[in-house]
Amino acid sequence: MEEFSEQRLAGRIALVTGGGSGIGRAISLRYAREGADIIVNDINLEGANETAKGIEELGRKAMVIRADVGVSAEVETMLEKAYSEWGRIDIVVNNAGISGLPYVLIEQTEEEWDRVINTNLKGVWLCSKFAAIRMLKQERKFGPLRGKIINIASIAGKTAIPHIGVYSASKFGVIAVTQVFAKELAPDITVNALCPGFHVTGIYFNSEEVVRGSMKTFKSPEILLERLGRAEDVAPLAAFLASEDSDYMTGQAINIDGGVEFH
Ligand code: NAI
Repeated sequence: MEEFSEQRLAGRIALVTGGGSGIGRAISLRYAREGADIIVNDINLEGANETAKGIEELGRKAMVIRADVGVSAEVETMLEKAYSEWGRIDIVVNNAGISGLPYVLIEQTEEEWDRVINTNLKGVWLCSKFAAIRMLKQERKFGPLRGKIINIASIAGKTAIPHIGVYSASKFGVIAVTQVFAKELAPDITVNALCPGFHVTGIYFNSEEVVRGSMKTFKSPEILLERLGRAEDVAPLAAFLASEDSDYMTGQAINIDGGVEFH
């Protein structure tokens, strides 16, 4: 594939969680095109290996680490391994996420509540925590910062969405954690979130029909730009947030949804 003339991430090392599919894969490949080497995390090794192959075809290095982001011991081991092999991580993208089973809250189970919150919210906290502990000790290699954390939240983290209430609560939580970490890790590390809308990815079984059906169930407004999102629509914003171009931004949650959510 064509290389970007702009190499904003040259020399950086990025960890992308849930990098084996959808938005995580698109971000990994975009980062590689902009010059970064990538640690691809996922619980799905087949998907992660496929992403790693794409990164290597672009001439960059890739390392695959299997870890469940919701399990503290696995996250700590992942960070230890990444730092012992590569010495530093410049960018962490907390992307791993699941939608959970679509039930109204009074019909939702405790098991499903725990599964979604553990992956989507606890996972962001754990990966940020174990990465930031190390990032804070690393030298400032690229400008004034020691590192950047980017959380993939959702427009469901800005407006309550019925039938995926646990998911919505987890994403409101991701935005809260983004803001708290931004305050606690400044001025060494910036922490920002991006909020995708309706993108045809694994979370919707890669089916446009499933996305459109879900939008009806969720009583979502129409998409102003009149098309569903792709995973690749999110990657340029994730690259901006990883680059020096966004060095004066922290604690923000930016929508990238074709015009659905305005706040
Ligand atoms: P996807 O299903 O294609 O990719 C998610 C990846 O995360 C998969 O490879 C999966 O194996 C991995 N994963 C799941 N649980 C994990 C765990 N415990 N530990 C490590 N990896 C795990 O879905 P998509 O859409 O690419 O999702 C990426 C992020 O984007 C998620 O956080 C999702 O909530 C968010 N998002 C997606 C939207 C969409 O319309 N597709 C809209 C808004 C947010």
